Amino acid sequence: MSKSALITGILGQDGPYLADFLLRKGYKVYGLIRRYSNPNFSNLDYLNVTNKVDYVEGDMNDEASLLNLIRGLHPDEVYNLAAQSFVKASFEQAKLTTEVNSLGPLYLLNAIKFFSPTTKFYQASTSEMFGLQHTNGYQDEKTPFHPRSPYGVSKVYAYWITVNYRESYGLFTCNGILFNHESPIRGIQFVTRKITDGVAKIKLGLVKELRLGNLEAKRDWGFADDYVEAMYLMMQQKNPDDYVIGTGESHSVREFVEIAFKSIGIADWKKYVVIDPQFKRPAEVPNLKAKADKARKNLGWKPKVAFDELVEIMVKADLKRYGSR
Ligand code: NAP
Ligand code: GDD
Repeated sequence: MSKSALITGILGQDGPYLADFLLRKGYKVYGLIRRYSNPNFSNLDYLNVTNKVDYVEGDMNDEASLLNLIRGLHPDEVYNLAAQSFVKASFEQAKLTTEVNSLGPLYLLNAIKFFSPTTKFYQASTSEMFGLQHTNGYQDEKTPFHPRSPYGVSKVYAYWITVNYRESYGLFTCNGILFNHESPIRGIQFVTRKITDGVAKIKLGLVKELRLGNLEAKRDWGFADDYVEAMYLMMQQKNPDDYVIGTGESHSVREFVEIAFKSIGIADWKKYVVIDPQFKRPAEVPNLKAKADKARKNLGWKPKVAFDELVEIMVKADLKRYGSR
């Protein structure tokens, strides 16, 4: 019999890539969606999987809906990708962020504990938990946490409750501590997509400038499609564990901007970029760089798409969206 997986956050960026990956492996895939008058399936459409997923309704803020779902479905695997995932918004909506990102996973874990204890659980943990901390410039599974936003703090709770339910009740629970990963269906507010969308519009003469915040922040950026494979691999191991996933390379927002403009033939990008303080954060995470040796050794995982290639893929996709060939 084929395995089944419930994916929360199915309409976001990672949900569609993971659904596509699991469907190819022969899984029956359930996708959790909130009740909307008009849900947006465009990211699933982009990967041609909209009609291959079975949709179930629920909300990470509504414990009963999650209990009922787990009790009814008994999925083999749950991938908890749902979150208020925009760091900047978490400063203004700290309570909502905490409810969705911290209590949501707790509700799912309780549902698994009470109604389906053989279900495996994946928590979408994040490099944002490290914040200011590093060991010789990189972060790995042993690096302590020092979150710098309500988002980062909410994810630290989710990380530890996931570990705690493994240790307390013997559940199969994993944390994937993923560094930034991007794609043509990345949310438009995140800096990479904001840049590639802006660059495409500038190339086509639709806008004249691109307004950004801190250009000096450095991130370890990979391709989302590579990263969903790591999620799956964690869930197939004999023993549940926590893994850092990233490329091991760190680049600044400035470098991302330079390469994106270069890809459309513009060298003098400074003519188009305006620094706007509204896009800066009350507390910044200056530098993230993964040391993903454990994943490489235990999971046999490594990223396939390099930084320059990722920027190009995203710029090309945005140009195509605006009708350019
Ligand atoms: P995303 O594009 O922002 O998608 C998040 C999804 O969560 C959306 O589909 C959203 O649903 C759903 N959601 C939000 N609140 C919900 C609620 N109350 N009930 C049910 N669903 C809710 O995020 P992503 O980039 O795919 O990331 C997936 C996960 O990985 C997130 O947990 C994120 O924090 C984590 N993460 C991401 C990265 C990264 O670089 N992308 C790195 C590390 C960790 P709607 O569509 O209905 O709004
Ligand atoms: N969004 C945004 N918009 N960020 C900007 C801008 C801008 O105009 N200008 C500069 N930045 C800087 C931010 O200050 C930050 O240092 C960096 O670009 C990346 O910002 P985001 O793309 O918003 O991502 P993030 O690193 O804060 O968070 C993402 O990655 C985390 C993993 O490290 C999100 O996907 C989180 O959900 C995820 O956990």
